[in-house]
Amino acid sequence: MKQDMIVILDLGSTENTVIARQIRELEVYSEIHPHDITMEQLKALPNVKGIILNGGENRVVDGMAVDVDPAVYEQGIPVLAIDHPTAKCERRLEAMPEMAVLKDFVCNVCQAQANWNMKNFIEDQVELIRNQVGERKVLLALSGGVDSSVVAALLIKAIGQQLICVHVNHGLMRKNESESVVEVFKNQLHANLIYVDAVERFLGKLEGVSDPEKKRKIIGGEFIRVFEEEARKLEGIDFLGQGTIYPDIIESGTKTAKMVKSHHNVGGLPEDLKFELVEPLKQLFKDEVRACGVELGLPPHMVYRQPFPGPGLGVRCLGAITRDRLEAVRESDAILREEFEKAGLDKQVWQYFTVVPDFKSVGVKNNARCFDYMVIIRAINTIDAMSATIERVDWDVLERITERILAEVENVCRVCYDMSPKPPATIEFE
Ligand code: XMP
Repeated sequence: MKQDMIVILDLGSTENTVIARQIRELEVYSEIHPHDITMEQLKALPNVKGIILNGGENRVVDGMAVDVDPAVYEQGIPVLAIDHPTAKCERRLEAMPEMAVLKDFVCNVCQAQANWNMKNFIEDQVELIRNQVGERKVLLALSGGVDSSVVAALLIKAIGQQLICVHVNHGLMRKNESESVVEVFKNQLHANLIYVDAVERFLGKLEGVSDPEKKRKIIGGEFIRVFEEEARKLEGIDFLGQGTIYPDIIESGTKTAKMVKSHHNVGGLPEDLKFELVEPLKQLFKDEVRACGVELGLPPHMVYRQPFPGPGLGVRCLGAITRDRLEAVRESDAILREEFEKAGLDKQVWQYFTVVPDFKSVGVKNNARCFDYMVIIRAINTIDAMSATIERVDWDVLERITERILAEVENVCRVCYDMSPKPPATIEFE
């Protein structure tokens, strides 16, 4: 690692991530570590130029006060304490520092060099990956989502043909998504890519299943089985690449941070398929992952994708999935995305998609009564997906989208706009 580092010791404040991000904005690398880090562990971290202790509301956990080892102050490394009673630090503040104050501590007191950028990060990671993997092989489930795509591009740069990517098309991908994975990774980046067409297999398993949780379990479970079958066909694989990113790690919770959600990834592989993990993005925030993707030359549509649930269009084709409604979701979603892009809304709205419920309504087409499906448009804004408000989409844009859906998507005679915030509605319908 070439970069200097500022270490934030986690005393339970929810602001730790904000501080880490602000320091990285100063182009100085920063990591959050548990408050009870041992001095051996602290010394083992490369190039630590400063330490920040941020107290805050969780300093007392389960009735027990938590504090750092007093030896932290004896390391010859400058310490900044925020809302934390100690006399032994270089700087003490009552509340979250202004950027200028933080900059003064990081750059002047700690003398940390501003050299954290994606070019250096990639160079470092390429070296680390090569050291970890040597001549051996890495397997990666490449869904085409932002994180797996960026990991793939980084691993291709580091180890080329020693990376084997498996892309499972479960039939619940958005329009042209699987094609785009093949185009970018196989044709342009010349990756060692195994494309698995599992469309019939997934749709067969899902036939007649209407319970949302059962649908999710089938999709997740089947994905692991397909991936496992491919892994067993290959020989000499020692590593599994994963698109774990920093929020996954932070949100899994340290002892002091509140548990937000459990960290999920391609877990669930059988015991006898043991791999060592390669997780080169695990210190990056989402926007840094995107910047890394851009630096690696991935196309913008791949890097700036909006969030897409693991079970894909499966949870947007409501109830028991049928092929005609799945096509209606896929086609209407493509129209929505195209029109949002034209209107510049793609950069403004956090998440937008269509769903097709499993009932029909009466309409009139070609002067005759018809009985067809309905498309519901949802467009929301949120900070953390825990709560959300609806986007007040311009009426003309909505009318244009509606006209196109009614003219171009088969089996649809009605379009609605979902006005519900979260809570009480969730962002997805299932
Ligand atoms: P909800 O519907 O719970 O969604 O308000 C919050 C955010 O999470 C996404 N989402 C998922 N992502 N696997 C995922 O990877 C899932 O099963 C899943 N379900 C919902 C959803 O798109 C929204 O951004």
